Amino acid sequence: MIKLDFSNILSEEIGEGGISINEIEINARKAISLISSRPYKELDFIELYRQDLSKVKELAKKARDYEYFVLLGIGGSALGPKVILEALSPMHNLKKKPKVFIYDNVDPVTFKNIIEVIDLKKTLINVISKSGATSETLASFLIFWRMIRDKRLDVKEHFVFTTDPEKGNLKRLAEEYEIPCLSIPKNVVGRYSVLSPVGVFLAEVLGIKSEEMLEAAKEISEKAFSENLKENPMAVAASSLYLMDRVKGRKIVVFLPYSDRLKTLSEWFCQLWAESLGKEGKGTTPYPSLGTTDQHSQLQLWMEGPEDKVIVFISVERHDCQEEIPEEFHDIEGLRFLGGHTLEELMNTEQLATEMALTMNKKPNLKIILPKINPYSIGQIFQFLQIVTAMTGLLYEINPFNQPGVELGKRLTYGAMGKRGFESEGEEIKDYLKR
Ligand code: PA5
Repeated sequence: MIKLDFSNILSEEIGEGGISINEIEINARKAISLISSRPYKELDFIELYRQDLSKVKELAKKARDYEYFVLLGIGGSALGPKVILEALSPMHNLKKKPKVFIYDNVDPVTFKNIIEVIDLKKTLINVISKSGATSETLASFLIFWRMIRDKRLDVKEHFVFTTDPEKGNLKRLAEEYEIPCLSIPKNVVGRYSVLSPVGVFLAEVLGIKSEEMLEAAKEISEKAFSENLKENPMAVAASSLYLMDRVKGRKIVVFLPYSDRLKTLSEWFCQLWAESLGKEGKGTTPYPSLGTTDQHSQLQLWMEGPEDKVIVFISVERHDCQEEIPEEFHDIEGLRFLGGHTLEELMNTEQLATEMALTMNKKPNLKIILPKINPYSIGQIFQFLQIVTAMTGLLYEINPFNQPGVELGKRLTYGAMGKRGFESEGEEIKDYLKR
């Protein structure tokens, strides 16, 4: 089970910059009562562990016979799969098949590079869009669709769609062209969908047993409603981050995992936190980081810069290998002292030393501890962070599942690209360009 250490956020530890345990408990209990009343249907993501995996497994078995697997999606439809790929199958394309490419942007150069590497005849393309209406994903889908057709390949053999169970463009095309289709449950929205077929399909394609991820998520989900705060670290984390903003004015959350394999977890978390909480003038700014790398680029700012941050460490107790540092150069102290230790030891010591330095400097920090990186712990951390985010949104009294602020930009893009019904937005863009 992953653990939370919140001692370095308490006033007992860091003085007046900290928060009393009493305040944390009051708001943690409030978060539990809010989530237990299930005010939004989108909280259904909590029960994704109940899903039937048979179709996912059947399609993944077929997918493993391809040489290449291209995933098209963006935001919540791509970042979770990226974490699964990098955390659970690091350097995958150098070692295993199918080679996986996650094309989540419409950068034409990235597209060209992928096309140069893959052979379409041996490629399965997973198009992921809950709405089936996202311009970036649909544009890249159209290009792949045309190329598959131009090569006279069977679209049924080269596409799998992951989309809404009832509606949208992808659902319609799946029915018309008999394309295999996986469903994202109706009430599960993009950034809370990693444990739906959005993420578990890729996991299975990589040969990862997704039921381990779901079993882990179940354990976390069940604890999310427990009023025993020792069993409910999600409520304690949500309360701590909420109070750090509301009471102490700390408006930046630095997310700092100590493992290269969790670098994209920072990106995934930042999207989850920003898009869920940044509304009605509320929310805090997530800031993706990586230990130990960013100790050499950002730590100075965290130690002596403005008093506006909370650091969230993600520490990994055991990495999959230790790698001993050899004992050499006994007469040069700068090299001698490293010999006989391991890289794992150095990584974990750097994390501890940074945490201590921040605490000694009265900078609030939380620590989430993963025993290892494996499907189980990744399932747990996904569900842990999703529940913390939803609870924090409920404490802010905002809806953590919508994103009204991104609609205007989408509408203006539709107008500029000539989508019917968005003519006035098209005119607005023209006027803007004339300024
Ligand atoms: O969290 C969200 O809802 C968004 O980030 C979406 O995931 C993103 O906009 C992509 O949407 P869709 O899956 O509908 O293409």
